[in-house]
Amino acid sequence: MRIYDIILKKRNSNKLTKEEIVFFVNGYTKGGIPDYQVSALLMAIYFQGMDDEETAFLTEAMIKSGEVYDLSLIPGKKIDKHSTGGVGDKVSIILAPLIASVGVVVPMMSGRGLGHTGGTLDKLESIPGFRTNLTKEEFISNLKKINVAMIGQSENIAPADKKLYALRDVTGTIESIPLIASSIMSKKLAEGIDGLVLDVKTGNGAFMKKEKDAVRLAKVMAAIGKKMGKDVVALITDMNQPLGNAIGNSLEIKECIEVLKGRGPQDLIDITLELGAYMLKLGRKVNNVSKGRDILKRHLSDGSAYERFKDMIRLHGGDVSAINNPSLLPSARYTKELLSDKNGYISKMDTEAIGIASCILGAGRERIEDRIDLAVGIVVEKKVGDKIRRSERLATLYYNSEDKITEAYKRLHDAYQISRQRPKKRRLIKRIIMA
Ligand code: URA
Repeated sequence: MRIYDIILKKRNSNKLTKEEIVFFVNGYTKGGIPDYQVSALLMAIYFQGMDDEETAFLTEAMIKSGEVYDLSLIPGKKIDKHSTGGVGDKVSIILAPLIASVGVVVPMMSGRGLGHTGGTLDKLESIPGFRTNLTKEEFISNLKKINVAMIGQSENIAPADKKLYALRDVTGTIESIPLIASSIMSKKLAEGIDGLVLDVKTGNGAFMKKEKDAVRLAKVMAAIGKKMGKDVVALITDMNQPLGNAIGNSLEIKECIEVLKGRGPQDLIDITLELGAYMLKLGRKVNNVSKGRDILKRHLSDGSAYERFKDMIRLHGGDVSAINNPSLLPSARYTKELLSDKNGYISKMDTEAIGIASCILGAGRERIEDRIDLAVGIVVEKKVGDKIRRSERLATLYYNSEDKITEAYKRLHDAYQISRQRPKKRRLIKRIIMA
Protein backbone atom coordinates (compact mmCIF):
# COMPACT_ATOMS: atom_id res chain seq x y z
CA MET A 1 0.00 0.00 0.00
CA ARG A 2 1.28 3.53 -0.81
CA ILE A 3 0.24 6.80 0.83
CA TYR A 4 0.48 8.49 -2.58
CA ASP A 5 -2.33 6.27 -3.92
CA ILE A 6 -4.47 6.97 -0.84
CA ILE A 7 -4.06 10.73 -1.35
CA LEU A 8 -5.11 10.42 -5.02
CA LYS A 9 -8.05 8.19 -4.12
CA LYS A 10 -9.45 10.71 -1.65
CA ARG A 11 -8.59 13.68 -3.87
CA ASN A 12 -10.71 12.02 -6.56
CA SER A 13 -13.59 11.70 -4.09
CA ASN A 14 -13.47 7.95 -3.52
CA LYS A 15 -14.22 6.13 -0.29
CA LEU A 16 -11.20 4.88 1.68
CA THR A 17 -11.18 1.36 3.08
CA LYS A 18 -10.56 0.52 6.73
CA GLU A 19 -7.12 -0.87 5.78
CA GLU A 20 -6.14 2.34 3.99
CA ILE A 21 -7.25 4.47 6.95
CA VAL A 22 -5.34 2.28 9.42
CA PHE A 23 -2.27 2.41 7.14
CA PHE A 24 -2.26 6.22 7.06
CA VAL A 25 -3.00 6.68 10.78
CA ASN A 26 -0.37 4.18 11.94
CA GLY A 27 2.18 5.31 9.37
CA TYR A 28 1.88 8.92 10.41
CA THR A 29 1.87 8.20 14.16
CA LYS A 30 5.03 6.10 13.90
CA GLY A 31 6.81 8.67 11.74
CA GLY A 32 6.87 6.60 8.53
CA ILE A 33 4.73 9.08 6.55
CA PRO A 34 5.91 12.70 6.41
CA ASP A 35 3.92 15.81 7.34
CA TYR A 36 3.71 17.01 3.72
CA GLN A 37 1.89 13.90 2.51
CA VAL A 38 -0.47 13.84 5.48
CA SER A 39 -1.16 17.56 4.95
CA ALA A 40 -2.17 16.75 1.37
CA LEU A 41 -4.42 13.91 2.53
CA LEU A 42 -6.03 16.10 5.21
CA MET A 43 -6.74 18.75 2.57
CA ALA A 44 -8.29 16.09 0.34
CA ILE A 45 -10.48 14.93 3.26
CA TYR A 46 -11.37 18.57 3.97
CA PHE A 47 -12.66 19.04 0.40
CA GLN A 48 -14.08 15.58 -0.34
CA GLY A 49 -15.33 14.61 3.13
CA MET A 50 -15.77 11.12 4.54
CA ASP A 51 -18.93 9.14 5.07
CA ASP A 52 -20.03 7.87 8.50
CA GLU A 53 -18.31 4.52 8.02
CA GLU A 54 -14.96 6.11 7.07
CA THR A 55 -15.30 8.50 10.04
CA ALA A 56 -15.93 5.58 12.40
CA PHE A 57 -12.88 3.73 10.97
CA LEU A 58 -10.76 6.86 11.39
CA THR A 59 -11.90 7.28 15.01
CA GLU A 60 -11.22 3.64 15.78
CA ALA A 61 -7.75 3.77 14.20
CA MET A 62 -6.95 6.89 16.23
CA ILE A 63 -8.13 5.29 19.49
CA LYS A 64 -6.06 2.16 18.72
CA SER A 65 -2.96 4.26 17.99
CA GLY A 66 -2.54 4.36 21.78
CA GLU A 67 -3.81 3.06 25.06
CA VAL A 68 -7.39 3.02 26.36
CA TYR A 69 -7.62 3.87 30.06
CA ASP A 70 -9.68 1.64 32.29
CA LEU A 71 -11.22 3.69 35.11
CA SER A 72 -13.67 1.01 36.21
CA LEU A 73 -11.99 0.69 39.61
CA ILE A 74 -13.01 4.27 40.43
CA PRO A 75 -16.58 4.14 41.79
CA GLY A 76 -19.36 6.12 40.12
CA LYS A 77 -20.00 7.39 36.62
CA LYS A 78 -17.13 9.09 34.81
CA ILE A 79 -18.44 11.98 32.75
CA ASP A 80 -16.56 14.44 30.55
CA LYS A 81 -17.44 17.46 28.43
CA HIS A 82 -15.82 18.67 25.22
CA SER A 83 -16.33 21.74 23.09
CA THR A 84 -15.76 21.88 19.36
CA GLY A 85 -13.91 25.16 19.92
CA GLY A 86 -14.77 28.80 20.22
CA VAL A 87 -13.42 32.21 21.14
CA GLY A 88 -13.29 32.92 24.86
CA ASP A 89 -14.58 29.42 25.55
CA LYS A 90 -13.17 28.69 28.98
CA VAL A 91 -16.12 26.60 30.22
CA SER A 92 -14.13 23.38 30.85
CA ILE A 93 -11.94 25.08 33.44
CA ILE A 94 -14.98 26.12 35.48
CA LEU A 95 -17.06 23.07 34.80
CA ALA A 96 -14.60 20.29 35.69
CA PRO A 97 -14.08 21.32 39.35
CA LEU A 98 -17.72 22.40 39.66
CA ILE A 99 -19.05 18.97 38.63
CA ALA A 100 -16.40 17.22 40.74
CA SER A 101 -17.57 19.19 43.77
CA VAL A 102 -21.03 17.60 43.34
CA GLY A 103 -19.54 14.09 43.37
CA VAL A 104 -19.34 13.11 39.70
CA VAL A 105 -15.91 11.96 38.47
CA VAL A 106 -14.55 14.15 35.65
CA PRO A 107 -11.55 12.67 33.82
CA MET A 108 -10.94 15.53 31.40
CA MET A 109 -8.55 15.34 28.50
CA SER A 110 -8.24 18.55 26.54
CA GLY A 111 -6.41 20.09 23.61
CA ARG A 112 -4.30 23.13 22.81
CA GLY A 113 -5.36 26.15 20.78
CA LEU A 114 -6.62 25.27 17.34
CA GLY A 115 -6.78 27.87 14.55
CA HIS A 116 -8.38 31.05 15.88
CA THR A 117 -9.73 29.27 18.99
CA GLY A 118 -8.00 28.90 22.33
CA GLY A 119 -7.16 25.61 24.04
CA THR A 120 -7.85 24.52 27.61
CA LEU A 121 -4.31 23.18 28.13
CA ASP A 122 -2.66 26.46 27.11
CA LYS A 123 -4.99 28.36 29.43
CA LEU A 124 -4.27 26.06 32.38
CA GLU A 125 -0.53 26.36 31.77
CA SER A 126 -0.75 30.08 32.42
CA ILE A 127 -1.11 29.09 36.09
CA PRO A 128 2.51 28.93 37.30
CA GLY A 129 3.62 25.32 37.85
CA PHE A 130 0.41 23.70 36.57
CA ARG A 131 1.24 20.36 34.93
CA THR A 132 -1.09 19.05 32.25
CA ASN A 133 1.20 16.08 31.51
CA LEU A 134 0.31 13.91 34.52
CA THR A 135 1.26 10.25 34.35
CA LYS A 136 -1.57 7.75 34.18
CA GLU A 137 -0.98 6.91 37.86
CA GLU A 138 -1.16 10.58 38.89
CA PHE A 139 -4.28 11.07 36.76
CA ILE A 140 -6.06 8.14 38.42
CA SER A 141 -4.84 9.12 41.87
CA ASN A 142 -6.21 12.68 41.45
CA LEU A 143 -9.55 11.32 40.27
CA LYS A 144 -9.74 9.13 43.36
CA LYS A 145 -8.82 12.00 45.69
CA ILE A 146 -10.85 14.92 44.30
CA ASN A 147 -12.97 13.52 41.41
CA VAL A 148 -11.19 15.64 38.82
CA ALA A 149 -8.03 15.83 36.73
CA MET A 150 -7.45 17.89 33.59
CA ILE A 151 -4.73 16.58 31.34
CA GLY A 152 -3.40 16.73 27.81
CA GLN A 153 -2.96 13.71 25.63
CA SER A 154 -0.06 11.71 26.93
CA GLU A 155 2.15 9.97 24.40
CA ASN A 156 -0.07 6.96 24.97
CA ILE A 157 -3.58 8.37 24.57
CA ALA A 158 -4.72 8.73 20.95
CA PRO A 159 -1.23 9.84 19.84
CA ALA A 160 -2.50 9.92 16.27
CA ASP A 161 -4.92 12.70 17.20
CA LYS A 162 -2.20 14.61 18.99
CA LYS A 163 -0.05 14.68 15.83
CA LEU A 164 -2.91 15.27 13.40
CA TYR A 165 -4.39 18.03 15.60
CA ALA A 166 -1.11 19.94 15.59
CA LEU A 167 -0.79 19.53 11.82
CA ARG A 168 -4.40 20.61 11.14
CA ASP A 169 -3.84 23.69 13.28
CA VAL A 170 -1.31 25.04 10.79
CA THR A 171 -2.53 23.66 7.45
CA GLY A 172 -6.04 25.12 7.13
CA THR A 173 -7.69 21.72 7.61
CA ILE A 174 -9.65 22.20 10.81
CA GLU A 175 -13.21 22.81 9.67
CA SER A 176 -14.08 19.31 8.56
CA ILE A 177 -16.83 17.21 10.14
CA PRO A 178 -15.01 13.83 9.93
CA LEU A 179 -11.72 15.34 11.17
CA ILE A 180 -13.32 17.16 14.11
CA ALA A 181 -15.57 14.23 15.05
CA SER A 182 -12.73 11.66 14.99
CA SER A 183 -10.36 14.02 16.83
CA ILE A 184 -12.77 14.67 19.68
CA MET A 185 -14.23 11.20 19.98
CA SER A 186 -10.89 9.34 19.78
CA LYS A 187 -9.43 11.11 22.81
CA LYS A 188 -12.69 11.07 24.72
CA LEU A 189 -13.28 7.36 24.15
CA ALA A 190 -9.70 6.52 25.10
CA GLU A 191 -9.91 8.19 28.50
CA GLY A 192 -12.27 5.66 30.05
CA ILE A 193 -15.51 7.67 30.36
CA ASP A 194 -19.09 6.44 30.73
CA GLY A 195 -20.72 9.55 29.29
CA LEU A 196 -19.94 12.73 27.41
CA VAL A 197 -21.59 16.12 27.03
CA LEU A 198 -20.62 17.88 23.82
CA ASP A 199 -20.78 21.62 23.28
CA VAL A 200 -21.06 21.96 19.52
CA LYS A 201 -20.53 25.60 18.60
CA THR A 202 -22.10 27.30 15.63
CA GLY A 203 -21.76 30.83 14.30
CA ASN A 204 -19.13 33.18 12.97
CA GLY A 205 -16.55 32.23 15.63
CA ALA A 206 -17.07 28.47 15.36
CA PHE A 207 -15.60 25.94 12.97
CA MET A 208 -19.15 25.09 11.95
CA LYS A 209 -20.50 28.42 10.73
CA LYS A 210 -23.91 27.01 9.79
CA GLU A 211 -26.25 25.49 12.33
CA LYS A 212 -27.09 22.59 10.00
CA ASP A 213 -23.39 21.61 9.87
CA ALA A 214 -23.14 21.81 13.67
CA VAL A 215 -26.18 19.54 13.98
CA ARG A 216 -24.63 17.08 11.52
CA LEU A 217 -21.32 17.11 13.46
CA ALA A 218 -23.22 16.54 16.73
CA LYS A 219 -25.11 13.60 15.24
CA VAL A 220 -21.94 12.01 13.85
CA MET A 221 -20.21 12.28 17.26
CA ALA A 222 -23.27 11.04 19.16
CA ALA A 223 -23.52 8.03 16.82
CA ILE A 224 -19.82 7.17 17.32
CA GLY A 225 -20.30 7.42 21.12
CA LYS A 226 -23.42 5.28 21.06
CA LYS A 227 -21.70 2.60 18.99
CA MET A 228 -19.04 2.43 21.71
CA GLY A 229 -21.71 2.09 24.43
CA LYS A 230 -21.38 5.63 25.86
CA ASP A 231 -24.12 8.08 26.84
CA VAL A 232 -23.75 11.22 24.72
CA VAL A 233 -25.69 14.49 24.78
CA ALA A 234 -24.80 17.38 22.47
CA LEU A 235 -25.83 20.99 22.97
CA ILE A 236 -25.72 23.22 19.91
CA THR A 237 -24.68 26.63 21.21
CA ASP A 238 -24.21 30.09 19.76
CA MET A 239 -20.71 31.34 18.90
CA ASN A 240 -21.60 34.61 17.14
CA GLN A 241 -19.71 36.53 19.78
CA PRO A 242 -16.96 35.62 22.26
CA LEU A 243 -18.10 33.66 25.30
CA GLY A 244 -17.68 35.82 28.39
CA ASN A 245 -15.41 38.83 27.98
CA ALA A 246 -11.82 37.58 28.16
CA ILE A 247 -9.89 36.06 25.23
CA GLY A 248 -6.31 34.91 25.79
CA ASN A 249 -4.81 32.45 28.22
CA SER A 250 -4.18 34.09 31.60
CA LEU A 251 -6.95 36.63 30.96
CA GLU A 252 -9.37 33.73 30.65
CA ILE A 253 -8.09 32.10 33.83
CA LYS A 254 -8.84 35.36 35.66
CA GLU A 255 -12.39 35.27 34.32
CA CYS A 256 -12.78 31.61 35.38
CA ILE A 257 -11.76 32.59 38.92
CA GLU A 258 -14.50 35.25 38.89
CA VAL A 259 -17.16 32.71 37.89
CA LEU A 260 -15.91 30.18 40.42
CA LYS A 261 -16.30 32.87 43.06
CA GLY A 262 -19.96 33.32 42.08
CA ARG A 263 -19.47 36.38 39.84
CA GLY A 264 -18.52 36.79 36.15
CA PRO A 265 -20.34 37.23 32.82
CA GLN A 266 -23.87 35.85 32.57
CA ASP A 267 -23.52 34.09 29.19
CA LEU A 268 -20.55 32.13 30.51
CA ILE A 269 -22.46 31.19 33.66
CA ASP A 270 -25.58 30.17 31.72
CA ILE A 271 -23.75 27.86 29.37
CA THR A 272 -21.71 26.34 32.20
CA LEU A 273 -24.87 25.59 34.18
CA GLU A 274 -26.62 24.04 31.20
CA LEU A 275 -23.72 21.79 30.16
CA GLY A 276 -23.11 20.92 33.80
CA ALA A 277 -26.74 20.03 34.43
CA TYR A 278 -26.55 17.46 31.62
CA MET A 279 -23.30 16.11 33.08
CA LEU A 280 -25.03 15.59 36.42
CA LYS A 281 -27.89 13.85 34.63
CA LEU A 282 -25.54 11.50 32.77
CA GLY A 283 -23.71 10.99 36.07
CA ARG A 284 -27.06 9.90 37.65
CA LYS A 285 -26.85 12.64 40.30
CA VAL A 286 -30.16 14.18 39.23
CA ASN A 287 -33.02 13.00 37.08
CA ASN A 288 -33.80 16.34 35.53
CA VAL A 289 -31.64 19.20 34.33
CA SER A 290 -33.47 21.90 36.24
CA LYS A 291 -32.52 20.23 39.53
CA GLY A 292 -28.97 19.97 38.20
CA ARG A 293 -28.85 23.69 37.48
CA ASP A 294 -30.01 24.50 41.03
CA ILE A 295 -27.30 22.33 42.60
CA LEU A 296 -24.62 23.88 40.41
CA LYS A 297 -25.73 27.44 41.21
CA ARG A 298 -25.43 26.60 44.89
CA HIS A 299 -21.94 25.14 44.44
CA LEU A 300 -20.82 28.29 42.64
CA SER A 301 -22.23 30.65 45.25
CA ASP A 302 -21.20 28.76 48.40
CA GLY A 303 -17.54 28.40 47.37
CA SER A 304 -17.53 24.57 46.96
CA ALA A 305 -16.56 24.77 43.27
CA TYR A 306 -13.86 27.36 43.97
CA GLU A 307 -12.34 25.23 46.74
CA ARG A 308 -12.34 22.18 44.46
CA PHE A 309 -10.64 24.27 41.75
CA LYS A 310 -7.88 25.19 44.19
CA ASP A 311 -7.49 21.54 45.24
CA MET A 312 -7.11 20.66 41.57
CA ILE A 313 -4.47 23.36 40.98
CA ARG A 314 -2.52 22.10 44.00
CA LEU A 315 -2.61 18.45 42.89
CA HIS A 316 -1.41 19.47 39.42
CA GLY A 317 1.60 21.23 40.94
CA GLY A 318 0.18 24.72 40.34
CA ASP A 319 0.74 27.76 42.50
CA VAL A 320 -2.48 28.42 44.42
CA SER A 321 -1.25 31.84 45.51
CA ALA A 322 -1.72 32.95 41.87
CA ILE A 323 -5.38 31.95 42.17
CA ASN A 324 -5.82 33.76 45.48
CA ASN A 325 -4.06 36.75 43.96
CA PRO A 326 -4.58 36.74 40.16
CA SER A 327 -2.16 39.65 39.71
CA LEU A 328 0.52 36.93 40.05
CA LEU A 329 -0.68 35.32 36.80
CA PRO A 330 1.22 36.33 33.62
CA SER A 331 0.29 39.91 32.67
CA ALA A 332 1.04 41.89 29.55
CA ARG A 333 3.24 44.99 29.68
CA TYR A 334 0.96 47.24 27.61
CA THR A 335 -2.71 47.88 26.98
CA LYS A 336 -4.52 49.71 24.20
CA GLU A 337 -8.18 50.65 24.26
CA LEU A 338 -10.53 50.34 21.30
CA LEU A 339 -13.03 53.21 21.40
CA SER A 340 -16.24 53.44 19.44
CA ASP A 341 -16.29 55.91 16.57
CA LYS A 342 -20.08 56.19 16.60
CA ASN A 343 -23.27 55.99 18.66
CA GLY A 344 -25.61 53.01 18.32
CA TYR A 345 -25.92 49.35 19.18
CA ILE A 346 -23.43 46.57 18.61
CA SER A 347 -25.17 44.67 15.82
CA LYS A 348 -22.51 42.09 14.93
CA MET A 349 -19.12 40.87 16.07
CA ASP A 350 -16.89 38.96 13.66
CA THR A 351 -15.84 36.47 16.29
CA GLU A 352 -13.30 34.60 14.19
CA ALA A 353 -11.56 37.91 13.43
CA ILE A 354 -11.46 38.65 17.16
CA GLY A 355 -9.88 35.23 17.79
CA ILE A 356 -7.35 35.93 15.03
CA ALA A 357 -6.57 39.36 16.53
CA SER A 358 -5.79 37.63 19.83
CA CYS A 359 -3.58 35.06 18.01
CA ILE A 360 -1.72 37.89 16.26
CA LEU A 361 -0.91 39.34 19.68
CA GLY A 362 0.68 35.95 20.45
CA ALA A 363 -2.11 34.05 22.25
CA GLY A 364 -2.20 31.34 19.53
CA ARG A 365 0.22 29.55 17.22
CA GLU A 366 0.98 30.07 13.53
CA ARG A 367 3.46 27.21 13.31
CA ILE A 368 3.62 23.92 15.25
CA GLU A 369 6.80 24.96 17.06
CA ASP A 370 5.55 28.46 18.07
CA ARG A 371 5.53 29.34 21.75
CA ILE A 372 2.49 31.25 22.79
CA ASP A 373 2.46 34.34 24.97
CA LEU A 374 0.29 33.42 27.96
CA ALA A 375 -0.26 37.02 29.04
CA VAL A 376 -1.70 38.64 25.92
CA GLY A 377 -5.23 38.85 24.57
CA ILE A 378 -8.35 40.95 24.46
CA VAL A 379 -11.09 41.83 26.91
CA VAL A 380 -14.31 42.83 25.16
CA GLU A 381 -16.48 45.19 27.14
CA LYS A 382 -19.36 45.58 24.71
CA LYS A 383 -21.13 42.68 23.05
CA VAL A 384 -23.99 42.17 20.62
CA GLY A 385 -27.09 44.17 21.61
CA ASP A 386 -25.21 46.57 23.91
CA LYS A 387 -25.73 50.30 23.52
CA ILE A 388 -22.59 52.28 22.80
CA ARG A 389 -21.74 55.98 22.69
CA ARG A 390 -19.04 57.59 20.56
CA SER A 391 -15.64 57.46 22.35
CA GLU A 392 -16.88 54.84 24.81
CA ARG A 393 -14.65 51.77 25.24
CA LEU A 394 -15.51 48.65 23.23
CA ALA A 395 -12.55 46.49 24.23
CA THR A 396 -8.99 46.49 25.57
CA LEU A 397 -6.01 44.77 23.95
CA TYR A 398 -3.28 43.38 26.21
CA TYR A 399 0.09 43.02 24.43
CA ASN A 400 3.83 42.69 24.81
CA SER A 401 5.14 43.54 21.37
CA GLU A 402 4.73 46.86 19.54
CA ASP A 403 5.05 45.28 16.09
CA LYS A 404 1.90 43.19 16.53
CA ILE A 405 -0.49 45.71 17.98
CA THR A 406 -1.29 47.71 14.81
CA GLU A 407 -2.61 44.72 12.89
CA ALA A 408 -4.43 43.20 15.88
CA TYR A 409 -6.05 46.57 16.64
CA LYS A 410 -7.25 46.94 13.05
CA ARG A 411 -8.71 43.42 12.99
CA LEU A 412 -10.52 44.03 16.27
CA HIS A 413 -11.77 47.43 15.12
CA ASP A 414 -13.13 45.96 11.87
CA ALA A 415 -14.74 43.07 13.74
CA TYR A 416 -17.30 45.34 15.45
CA GLN A 417 -20.41 46.44 13.55
CA ILE A 418 -22.50 49.23 15.04
CA SER A 419 -26.00 50.09 13.82
CA ARG A 420 -28.80 52.43 14.79
CA GLN A 421 -31.20 49.63 15.67
CA ARG A 422 -30.88 47.19 18.51
CA PRO A 423 -30.43 43.70 16.96
CA LYS A 424 -32.70 40.80 17.89
CA LYS A 425 -31.46 38.74 20.83
CA ARG A 426 -30.05 35.34 19.88
CA ARG A 427 -30.59 32.20 21.89
CA LEU A 428 -27.39 30.93 23.49
CA ILE A 429 -28.51 27.30 23.56
CA LYS A 430 -30.08 26.40 20.26
CA ARG A 431 -30.75 22.67 20.33
CA ILE A 432 -30.17 19.55 22.38
CA ILE A 433 -29.28 16.33 20.56
CA MET A 434 -29.33 12.98 22.35
CA ALA A 435 -27.75 9.81 21.02
N1 URA B 1 -11.52 19.96 19.49
C1 URA B 1 -10.78 18.86 19.22
O1 URA B 1 -10.33 18.17 20.13
N2 URA B 1 -10.55 18.55 17.94
C2 URA B 1 -11.02 19.27 16.91
O2 URA B 1 -10.79 18.91 15.77
C3 URA B 1 -11.79 20.43 17.19
C4 URA B 1 -12.02 20.75 18.51
